[in-house]
Amino acid sequence: MRNILVQLSMTIVASATLLLVSCGEGAIEEPELVAPSLTEASEITSTSFSVDWDFVEGADAYQVDLAKDEAFTDFVSPYQESRQSFSEVRLTDLEAGTTYYFRARSIFRDSFSQYSNTLEVTTLTANDSEPGTSLKNSADFSVGMAVQVARLNGQHEEVLQREFNQITSEYEMKMNIMYPSESNFDFSRADATVDWALANGIEVHGHALIWHNATPGWVENYSGTDEAFEALIEDYIKTTVTRYKGKVKSWDVVNEAFEDNSGTLRNSVFRQKMGDDYLEKCHRWTREADPDVLIFYNDYSMVIDPTKRRATIAMVEDFLDRGVPIDGVGYQMHISHDFPTKASIEAAAGEVTDLGLLLHFSELDVRANPNNDLQALTTQRAVSQQAKVREVVEVYNAIPETSKFGITIWGMKDDETWLTDFWGHPDWPLLYNADFSPKRAHTGFLEGLQ
Ligand code: XIL
Repeated sequence: MRNILVQLSMTIVASATLLLVSCGEGAIEEPELVAPSLTEASEITSTSFSVDWDFVEGADAYQVDLAKDEAFTDFVSPYQESRQSFSEVRLTDLEAGTTYYFRARSIFRDSFSQYSNTLEVTTLTANDSEPGTSLKNSADFSVGMAVQVARLNGQHEEVLQREFNQITSEYEMKMNIMYPSESNFDFSRADATVDWALANGIEVHGHALIWHNATPGWVENYSGTDEAFEALIEDYIKTTVTRYKGKVKSWDVVNEAFEDNSGTLRNSVFRQKMGDDYLEKCHRWTREADPDVLIFYNDYSMVIDPTKRRATIAMVEDFLDRGVPIDGVGYQMHISHDFPTKASIEAAAGEVTDLGLLLHFSELDVRANPNNDLQALTTQRAVSQQAKVREVVEVYNAIPETSKFGITIWGMKDDETWLTDFWGHPDWPLLYNADFSPKRAHTGFLEGLQ
């Protein structure tokens, strides 16, 4: 019985193979296995680059070669006849400023396709970028990044100097850090951030004087009178803004004041103790301390939450009518690779620019894994993310010049994003890979400027 089964299955395999190789007018021929078609390398650094190609129908693997000569005699280890399952490969541990030749062929069982076309790729020179690929040199608005003091050195510093002309402190210029206890301010990290920026000719966007999520415990639990509370907030704002007068270009004075999906003010300790007009008071104190600093209101979901956006715009219109200082609005751009649409970003942006105010696309990160269905960033998702970044930048680039302030990316490299902790699963929302190589999303930013 067992023998019959084995024979039967062998017959099935044999006929399948026959079917596969039968074609034309009854002639038996090997099926043509198509060679991969290579376009161009991406994510080129001084030590690495990526190549991908369209999946080849019928291929169950690929073989790739990397050499230092076009004739493929001087192979680069380990990329000689190196076999792999996916139609993409990242070549690493290469030499800077060196020209390499890459080719691939498709494999089906024991047969190989012809070789693909050959790609010629030159790695970057260390500390150099490809001409025309610097974000800051390509844009007519500021290109910012969220920074942390401990990272203002090494390769972070090199990339910042090369690509960005503005920074925002990711968390070290918030009240819980700058005013940790009633008896003392601690501006050490804020000073380090601002001093570094000034030394490098980079602008500082101040973020954020008042934020319910970064309020020190002693302020949350304040037991004095409302008058005393208000006096200490006035003192805190004036002390901080005065300290950085002429050094910090702009401040998010109050961050995230509105509830989601509603026009109501969040019931923070500031609202409870200072009243519904606490934002107005904070804006006025900021202006008194620095007549030239740009004053922003900053919030999230401004594209996808029309109720919150309408409440914000109404507040801003009221401020403009009554002469309460305000120069701009920050739309935090914590978005996803497939959402929101370009049209909705454009429409939401228009509501600020129609008022003649500055618009800041602050805190841009583009989730590639919003549904947690990926273990690693795939080429397909990276391409989708690239397209979304391009759309965001296209929208921003097209707003009136008088409303342009800048776009801030919320961090440098994927392995450092706050979103991993925030959502509790992996994501790759930024413009650089963990090894500092620029991603497709970085290319998308540049494409959006064209
Ligand atoms: C986040 C930072 O990225 C984190 O490092 C920090 O621990 C918490 O705050 N909206 C904001 C930012 O306005 O200040 C937040 O930044 C992200 C959400």
